[in-house]
Amino acid sequence: MPGFELAPAKINLALHVRRRREDGYHELETLFAFAADGDLLAAEPAVDLGLTIDGPMAAHLTAGPDNLVLRAARLLAEAAGVKAGAALRLTKILPVASGIGGGSADAAAALRLLNRFWALDWPLDRLAALSEGLGADVPACVHSHALYGKGRGDRLMPVPPGALQGMPLLLVNPGVAVPTGPVFAAWDGIDRGGLDTDMSLAAIRNARNDLQPGAIGLCPVIAHVLDLLLDSEGVLLARMSGSGATCFALFRDGAVQTAAARRIAALHPSWWVRPSTVNQFREPQLLGLS
Ligand code: C5P
Repeated sequence: MPGFELAPAKINLALHVRRRREDGYHELETLFAFAADGDLLAAEPAVDLGLTIDGPMAAHLTAGPDNLVLRAARLLAEAAGVKAGAALRLTKILPVASGIGGGSADAAAALRLLNRFWALDWPLDRLAALSEGLGADVPACVHSHALYGKGRGDRLMPVPPGALQGMPLLLVNPGVAVPTGPVFAAWDGIDRGGLDTDMSLAAIRNARNDLQPGAIGLCPVIAHVLDLLLDSEGVLLARMSGSGATCFALFRDGAVQTAAARRIAALHPSWWVRPSTVNQFREPQLLGLS
């Protein structure tokens, strides 16, 4: 029986960096939200584990053994003692190395999908704990609903999604892949204070992404993306997500969101411009078709 799973785009509504750690990571506080859109992962029965990639962003990554989807699949198979394989197909829609999950969301989707496909029935918390070594954002992506994250971003607490649920969202990436490590390294080391767990628009508007200035220094076009989003009619908030370069904006309604998407796409046809909505309630039973 084939199975399908969505790997929703992750958005850091705010991201406060507090300090550098001895292990090379940074202590942070972040509010995670998720979009209704993302990559798609499918599984068919097979003797061994395998991966093929299609979709508009397929050319930007390889299906080799280091791909996070295969690393996640091997990790789960070993931890659960699964002998069966799976032929996985990733439809890559999200830009790679872009601050909206990408590989982390795909790895998390692989864990959720194979958990069903292999009839393991592990709870999400157990999958999230298993996923910690795959990347700091993978546990949050396993849950894919409104979360407050501390530590590396992997100490998670569910938060009420507030008024953001269903809000029109626009994701814009200027087509530049930005590696996460150098953006964290570009943080100026100044602790500007903690982040509240409040998911209200007012609280999020008062918060920050402390990685944004350093990312703009490395990739100045991000400032242009933000200017275009902030200049749009009906925009409620525009900010970079994660370590960039993707920026997101929240809109008053779908009409102004569509107008902003059309205007930006017309000005910059090579950019990735994706209208979506905030979706804070992942319902696996609706997403999984098997
Ligand atoms: O865990 P992940 O592989 O996604 O992180 C990529 C890089 O981002 C790390 O090697 C580290 O340089 C940086 N990072 C960080 N602090 C975090 C998360 C990531 O410094 N909380």
